[in-house]
Amino acid sequence: MSIAEILDTMEYGPAPESDKEALAWIAGLGDETKLFIGGQWKKAKSGESFETTSPASGKVLTRLAQAGTADVDAAVKAASKAQPGWAALSGHQRARYLYALARLIQRHSRLFAVVESLDNGKPIRETRDIDIPLVARHFYHHAGWAQLMDSELAEREPLGVCGQIIPWNFPLLMLSWKIAPAIALGNTVVLKPAEYTSLTALLFAEMCQKAGLPEGVVNIVTGDGATGEAIVNHPGIAKVAFTGSTEVGRHIREATAGSGKSLTLELGGKSPFIVFEDADMDAAVEGVVDAIWFNQGQVCCAGSRLLVQESVEQRFVAKLIARMETLRVGDPLDKAIDIGAIVHPVQLKRIRELVEIGVKEGAELHQPKAAMPSKGCFYPPTLLTGVHPASTVSRVEIFGPVLVATTFRTPAEAVELANNTEYGLAASIWSETLSLALDIAPKLKCGVVWVNGTNMFDAGVGFGGYKESGFGREGGREGLAAYSKPKWLAKAKPIAEKPAPQTGGDAVSTAFIDRTAKLYIGGKQARPDGGYSRPVLSPSGALVGEVGEGNRKDIRNAVEAARKATGWAAATEHNRAQILYYIAENLEARAGEFADRIAAMTGRRKPEAAKEVAASVSRLFSYGAWADKFEGAVHKPPLRGVALAMNEPLGTVGIVCPDAWGLLGFVSTVAPAIAMGNRVVVVPSSSQALAATDFYQVLDTSDVPAGVVNIVTGDRDALALDIARHDEVDAVWYFGNQAAAAGVEKASGGNLKQVWTETVQRDWLSAQGEGREFLARATQVKNIWVPYGE
Ligand code: NAI
Repeated sequence: MSIAEILDTMEYGPAPESDKEALAWIAGLGDETKLFIGGQWKKAKSGESFETTSPASGKVLTRLAQAGTADVDAAVKAASKAQPGWAALSGHQRARYLYALARLIQRHSRLFAVVESLDNGKPIRETRDIDIPLVARHFYHHAGWAQLMDSELAEREPLGVCGQIIPWNFPLLMLSWKIAPAIALGNTVVLKPAEYTSLTALLFAEMCQKAGLPEGVVNIVTGDGATGEAIVNHPGIAKVAFTGSTEVGRHIREATAGSGKSLTLELGGKSPFIVFEDADMDAAVEGVVDAIWFNQGQVCCAGSRLLVQESVEQRFVAKLIARMETLRVGDPLDKAIDIGAIVHPVQLKRIRELVEIGVKEGAELHQPKAAMPSKGCFYPPTLLTGVHPASTVSRVEIFGPVLVATTFRTPAEAVELANNTEYGLAASIWSETLSLALDIAPKLKCGVVWVNGTNMFDAGVGFGGYKESGFGREGGREGLAAYSKPKWLAKAKPIAEKPAPQTGGDAVSTAFIDRTAKLYIGGKQARPDGGYSRPVLSPSGALVGEVGEGNRKDIRNAVEAARKATGWAAATEHNRAQILYYIAENLEARAGEFADRIAAMTGRRKPEAAKEVAASVSRLFSYGAWADKFEGAVHKPPLRGVALAMNEPLGTVGIVCPDAWGLLGFVSTVAPAIAMGNRVVVVPSSSQALAATDFYQVLDTSDVPAGVVNIVTGDRDALALDIARHDEVDAVWYFGNQAAAAGVEKASGGNLKQVWTETVQRDWLSAQGEGREFLARATQVKNIWVPYGE
């Protein structure tokens, strides 16, 4: 036999990792696990429990307590009690605890890795080399943010008690993504692990005890969706952080509407893996292995849609099929295994059913011939070729080791196919031409892009989605925003909207009422669809003028116009800055006229009104200045390469302006949005609507492209709902009353658009009315990973 033949036929011997310590630790939990509440192990008051099994063997590992509402309540109370003291510690003191947790995780890394593999079914190679090191890194990194909070986040403070609900695919890693930033910044947490995979969370709770973490800072409650729901609905929770299915995410969006709870959602995906004809084919094949067969494909950002350039498709698919034959499926505790067990029979059934549908819809099925384990919850690596982009398997998240392949001809077509999904979590681009890859990356509507790589993560690099993959980021500086809030909010008073004055008084100035101001859509004045007008009155009830009464149809037209103005996002920052300065210049030229109008609508004295105009001019200058300065970052994750954090516009933003500041409220919200490249549909103040309708004449003379700013006057709260319900709107900002804000949040669930509702009074004239907070709200971060080396 030649050496080549020996190498060809060489079999792997088994390389089993011992489960002895892990099983002993599990046995030590007793017949039924307890809940970790207020630093103590408590028996569930519900008295209920359920089995947790090892998917590879089907064996019962133990019974987990099912926390009921009384248990969740006790956990929230413990967290609330602990929070002020925890937040009052110095950043350095909190940093020491996080550092201690990182060290403890490293010291017990093998136990964590084996328990995780037993409980979840993922290969020990992955838990040992990927999950657990990333968990430790997350605590180290955020120990750093605790240390730096006072200097780097001086204007921000913690939110309070955070309710955190995590999935089963990366149990301990998701725990660390949730807990580390939360406690670093002075919050306390109630975390619920997924019902299939709760064990490492309990082991982590033991580490909290070992680290001497103050009681109540971390509380762990086990249970199913009902426990999750009790957390979401608990009034003592200030923030909900969820990772899981889009369906449950949408439900949580609706359930938290109007509660004042902050929310971040990290949901599903159907991420493209794009192979250009000049890609290094062998590297890209290995990339596919990591993209879709890592963690059995149960990865929210799995590269589950292979888009391969037509010219190389046959060659690439042949290489891939050959590679699939060499993948080893089997016991997750065998160190030479590539693919472990699917988490649960329910998930296995779902995968099987979806693959069957794919085949019925015309896909060709490829699976390796190698033998599969005869027992346990396993599914082979699977490739479906000849898949139509509209077919079920191209659209639905399978969450298993199933890759669907389709072809494209040109880069433009690749982008179109890649974006043809309601999700927007990640993408992978393979090409040896870096200029091509870096041209494609910004065009992809997703939160993470890997160039010639896949599934790279780091605590210092934000992770999170666009579109229905959710909102908010975990990791990186941007992730900190999700666990803190501006300090001034605590003392702010609620917005009290006065009832509209009744008509009947005399007109204040006949010069204003010679015409009814129209709406402004697509760069043109437009009559309102309904044909009605509404009066704008002075505080004494005198008629100052009339504006159009916009309705849902007008909002639809405005959104359509905004979506067409795609050139704005592509304009250079310099160009957008110039236009903002130009708007300022033209506003100033008409300052007297605007001041008169404001004085008439508000009853303020002219010099006061003139101050609002001057502040608006200054604010436009601020955002002209910011347009080319709100830059991203170059991250240096621990690999040879960089991750480029780019602040990208959200797309079409609906803005319902504060009512009390007709001009300044309009300028302070519209300017940051357009400075960052968004197009806007604006519902201005109702009581001072003429300030905005006068403003479109300023826009007309300032080179603002048609469709970038669209203005629909009318009933703010009704129009806010129309915007929130519109699935082509990417984000909505609402400044106003609590009841309407609740309605907006609830209605936004359709396409899970980003929502910013503010129901307290902001001092628009001061520095509070502008700056980074607005810019961050107007953007979403995309992280583009560019590894390098030969
Ligand atoms: P899921 O979304 O139901 O579960 C995730 C977490 O939410 C678990 O801790 C669960 O107990 C909790 N939960 C369930 N219902 C809840 C509710 N009404 N309120 C609060 N918490 C609730 O996901 P599931 O059923 O485990 O998996 C179903 C599908 O979801 C998968 O096939 C996959 O497509 C997707 N998924 C996506 C994940 C991601 O990371 N994006 C993670 C897990 C699942």
